[in-house]
Amino acid sequence: MKAELLYEGKAKKVYRVKDSQDELVLSYKNDATAFNGVKKDSFDGKGRLNNEISSYIFDYLSNENIESHFIEKLNETEQLVTETTIIPIEVVVRNIATGSITKRLGIKEKTLFTPPLVELFYKDDALGDPLINDEHALFLSDATRLELDEIKEMALTINTVLQKLFSEINLTLVDFKLEFGRLEDGRIVLSDEISPDTCRLWDRTTQEKMDKDVFRQDLGDLLHVYKEILHRLEARS
Ligand code: C5P
Repeated sequence: MKAELLYEGKAKKVYRVKDSQDELVLSYKNDATAFNGVKKDSFDGKGRLNNEISSYIFDYLSNENIESHFIEKLNETEQLVTETTIIPIEVVVRNIATGSITKRLGIKEKTLFTPPLVELFYKDDALGDPLINDEHALFLSDATRLELDEIKEMALTINTVLQKLFSEINLTLVDFKLEFGRLEDGRIVLSDEISPDTCRLWDRTTQEKMDKDVFRQDLGDLLHVYKEILHRLEARS
């Protein structure tokens, strides 16, 4: 099914699908990276867990009428998606203060954001994905002001939907990062992945971190935590 390798990122490989105009295969790798690639490791089985978790979440979002590039899970580590032109903006939604915002703005750890905060970052590894404002985003992408507003609205809707999903499995959605892409017909849809690599999730009972912070901060067994998230998702359905 796969033809040529189009792109290899830190967490995934992207292949063109043989004889298809607009379908791609995303293949999840076992690699974990943090701090813009400075910290690296590999965990056998991580690719499978993120593929399963991300597929579950995109299916769930689709049932909640949120359109994305996701078509279907193909096998343990791969999923089929519609090709989009990635908009080079990372959209972060924050419900609770932690991570970069506490250092950048001196906001106290665990401060609640009501309403949630939306931040934009320029997707550029060489520049270290800097924080940008709306005017920068309009300059650096082909999105119009209306589309940028729609992207932020979609991010907030996705936040509401995912907060509900995660609370059902006893997790708090602290923050997360989304990417969007443009389809051939010009529409903008959710793309990339949603997994514990791209979300912060805290256990509601123990407050334990159950996401990539376990790797970033050397807090324990990353695979154990990712397995537990998949297990809780599968147990709810
Ligand atoms: O590091 P920071 O606090 O800005 O991260 C906010 C959220 O975005 C976290 O959930 C983190 O996992 C996610 N993120 C990501 N990819 C990046 C930067 C942040 O998935 N390049």
